[in-house]
Amino acid sequence: MKRILITSAIPYVAGVKHLGNLVGSMLPADIFARYCRSRGYDTLAICATDEHGAPVELAALEEGMPVAEYAAKWHAVQKALGDRFSLSWDNFGRSSSAQNHELTLHFARALWKNGLLELRTTKQAYSATDGRFLPDRYVIGTCPHCGYDRARGDQCENCTRVLDAVDLIHPRSAVSGAQDIEIRDATHLFLKQSQFADRLRAWIDSHKTDWPPLVTSIAYKWLDEGLHDRGITRDLEWGIPVPDDIAGGALKGKVFYVWFDAPIEYIAATKEWADKNGKGDAWKDWWFGDAAKDVTYWEFMGKDNVPFHTIIFPAMEMGTGEPWHLVDRLKGFNYLNYDGGKFSTSGKRGIFMDKALDVAPADYWRYYLIANAPESSDSNFTWEQFAGIINKDLADVLGNFVNRVTKFCVARFDGVVPGEGDYGEDEQALVAEMDRRVAAYAEFMENAEFRKAMGEMRAIWVAGNEYMTRAAPWTHIKTDRARAAVGVRMGLNLIHQFAHLLWPVMPDFAKTIHECIQPVGYRGGVIPFPGAPMLELLNDLTPGQPIKAPEVLVAKISEDQIAEWKAQFGGGAA
Ligand code: MF3
Ligand code: ZN
Repeated sequence: MKRILITSAIPYVAGVKHLGNLVGSMLPADIFARYCRSRGYDTLAICATDEHGAPVELAALEEGMPVAEYAAKWHAVQKALGDRFSLSWDNFGRSSSAQNHELTLHFARALWKNGLLELRTTKQAYSATDGRFLPDRYVIGTCPHCGYDRARGDQCENCTRVLDAVDLIHPRSAVSGAQDIEIRDATHLFLKQSQFADRLRAWIDSHKTDWPPLVTSIAYKWLDEGLHDRGITRDLEWGIPVPDDIAGGALKGKVFYVWFDAPIEYIAATKEWADKNGKGDAWKDWWFGDAAKDVTYWEFMGKDNVPFHTIIFPAMEMGTGEPWHLVDRLKGFNYLNYDGGKFSTSGKRGIFMDKALDVAPADYWRYYLIANAPESSDSNFTWEQFAGIINKDLADVLGNFVNRVTKFCVARFDGVVPGEGDYGEDEQALVAEMDRRVAAYAEFMENAEFRKAMGEMRAIWVAGNEYMTRAAPWTHIKTDRARAAVGVRMGLNLIHQFAHLLWPVMPDFAKTIHECIQPVGYRGGVIPFPGAPMLELLNDLTPGQPIKAPEVLVAKISEDQIAEWKAQFGGGAA
């Protein structure tokens, strides 16, 4: 049996995530996980909140709450929103967990023992107004590479380059806005990343064909620019303290850099999962040594996260000298823009997960977002496009098909699957097309090529509609009941298979449809992928079996509604 480990970049705990965050990691990871489960693969889907670091401390400060309390609060909010979006994690952990403290120390000690960490004195931004060193995002300024004027001290959001706060032009404090930034000496622990250049390049070369070009090009850019050793400790209160046995106590009062402990949380969250479920050491079978050899490990993330997952985290894993499982398939995404500008958490611009659910059910968003996922380039959200896709794909094509077939069956065949007549040439042709398209859909899903998979699914719905127009049971019922019965029977079988195919993407919708047609057939909450030969599947329903017509499945979005949402959410390029 295939074993699939899936992680999505763990969202910062600070606040509610926007739809750009959702489509860049958590949603595709979930759709992929559900697809894998529907195939019967042994699947483990892991996510967590990223709870340490300057951004979280800053946000807690702003809310006037102790950081630990703040993190617990927002973790719970994010978990609840994940549930409402049907994100079916096996564990949604916390990077502040005891398990992560333990594993992070394990990694740090192994790296220290192997001589891959080094104590260095560095120049660091210090503000007298604030009376402290200002790590990472505590400093804001102009990016020395692209000129973006709100670049943060750790990374430029605009050009994705990782930065050192002291290189920012016109630096100012994110806490107070103070511009009295001086550069002082500070001692920190560095990961000797430069030593990994050859191993990393060979490893990335080996993935040239199975990682998207977006991902390999970012990784190569980093390698080509030369790997710099990287500071992995910070002057913060909240985080995982550096223990005295590393560097002989020289780093008292400092914590590990958030990007050091965050990826380790993938592993720690798996341990949290094992601990919660009384599974003992089962987490190791996903991550460590021979037991994890048959695992295919997939990571999902936005492009700004790619350097950390192709360079830093793998270097950390390699550097332990222990057989940690490196990522096998890395799926990176471009950005989703909001109406021509950026989604922005700090600027509160765009649609956030909580507000999105006031507008439309989770399944609409799931479908819309994945069908337009920013896979090969950035994509752009507009309300018109959102409404257009819901109205066309979901209401006109899919919803209408389900409605007209089931309603007609209820009206003219007593709401039971009709048994009369035999499948003929038209049905054979449809079976052949479905065979082909379902295979293509599966192939795309296996490779997490979501836009193509959704294109295929749409084509499957269209093929069903076209068949039904040709079969026209509403016409034949007057003269040839058996012929009409054939069309209805095929239509009902199609609906049944549609439910199986769309379960990974629209689980609620799939369940509603499935229950109308075939109230049995779930396996542990999973609607399995269609397994048998297509002809059998499209002949699966037993004649005489009752079916139900669902209430209006997909209500169309009106122009008025669009106007209202636009006014409510704002828009137009920033
Ligand atoms: N919190 C980071 C972000 O939202 C992602 C962390 S991914 C991990 O950009 F690998 F570090 F876990
Ligand atoms: Zn930049």
